[in-house]
Amino acid sequence: MPHDFMPGLAGVPAAKSAISDVDGQRGVLEYRGIRVEELCLRSSYLETAYLLLFGHLPTQPQLARWHEDIVHHRRIKFKIVDLLKCLPEQGHPMDALQAAVAALGMFYPGRNVQDVDNNYWSAVRLVAKLPTIVAAWARLRHGNEYIPPRDDLGFSENFLYMLTETEPLPLWSDIFDDCLILHAEHTMNASTFTGMVTASTLADPYTVVASSIGALKGPLHGGANEEVVQMLKEIGDPGRARSYLEEQVRAKQRLMGFGHRVYKVKDPRATILQGLCERLFKECGNSPLYEVAVEVERVAEELLKGKGIYPNVDFYSGIVYDKMGIETDLFTPLFALARVSGWLAHWLEQLRENKLFRPDQIYSGEHNRSYVPIEQR
Ligand code: ACO
Repeated sequence: MPHDFMPGLAGVPAAKSAISDVDGQRGVLEYRGIRVEELCLRSSYLETAYLLLFGHLPTQPQLARWHEDIVHHRRIKFKIVDLLKCLPEQGHPMDALQAAVAALGMFYPGRNVQDVDNNYWSAVRLVAKLPTIVAAWARLRHGNEYIPPRDDLGFSENFLYMLTETEPLPLWSDIFDDCLILHAEHTMNASTFTGMVTASTLADPYTVVASSIGALKGPLHGGANEEVVQMLKEIGDPGRARSYLEEQVRAKQRLMGFGHRVYKVKDPRATILQGLCERLFKECGNSPLYEVAVEVERVAEELLKGKGIYPNVDFYSGIVYDKMGIETDLFTPLFALARVSGWLAHWLEQLRENKLFRPDQIYSGEHNRSYVPIEQR
């Protein structure tokens, strides 16, 4: 049966899912029916990850066990640390993360993805170990020692500690935890779809997550957060925002951190992240990048009016991380270590009624050509 070709599969449902929902006209994002605003206010990243993976908020004993299981699996094997040490230090952290996650699967070779117990432990390991890998790489590439996780610290607190060897201010881990909640899941996006295609072959979850990491790296997806901060630094001063944007629009260049396939209003995550920036600056002083960003948003609204192009999640996240002293090329790995819970939730959901992804194509080439011998071409 012939179908219309939809470039980028825009508007084509690729799955039925009960994990999250976006209302792109009203700017509403819900995880398992709960709005992200409420989760940021009342939940933690680990609890939100549980909600996404298992479909309900945990009871106290369930949350305690989930927390304990994560804490017990945060460490990474010394061979993974050695693998990271062997990678070129100027390489991108997303490539290091992807390589380490693919290698992780070699240590936990359970191939039967119908084994519910095994799947639980795979999810625990991936949620627990991604932050350790990201922090380890961030230090090893500068010749610093890997700092193992500390069992007495919460998820975000521990990550920031492993990165800096210093216990973070409670405000910083709170804000960082909200950032992780906001990045944990987002319906059928490019990296989730990539993981689901891989998962549909019944590949193991380490391979699934490694393929999602690859898709997230691109500048049209998660990689945009890195480019936003570079752009804001290049603009340098709110007074230069207008001329910079006018030039971009004239040259038909895309503004990084703006636009979304689904949202036709400002991304609710961008609004929350903007609030987090302001909370952070109240305690720790302003950031010149933020002032530039606000002006870029104002001018962009004027110049791109009518196109439905507003800030997305990547626009303000980097400003928060930058203020915390996190290096720019780690922003997308931070996205990945949060999004892993969403990827895995889709993996578990799809396994219940798996069907191999094998779409069709519309052939636009020739038929019945003859082979021409090389000396006659
Ligand atoms: N800046 C300027 N113009 C834009 C932008 C932008 N950021 N985004 C879209 N447009 C314009 C396009 O040029 C196009 O204009 P035209 O109709 O005159 O040709 C129109 O809006 C529609 O654009 P499409 O590319 O068809 O829209 P699509 O849904 O494919 O784009 C995307 C979504 C890829 C996110 C796009 O908005 C973009 O490239 N943004 C910049 C990169 C970015 O911030 N990515 C992160 C997205 S969030 C995430 O993945 C975590």
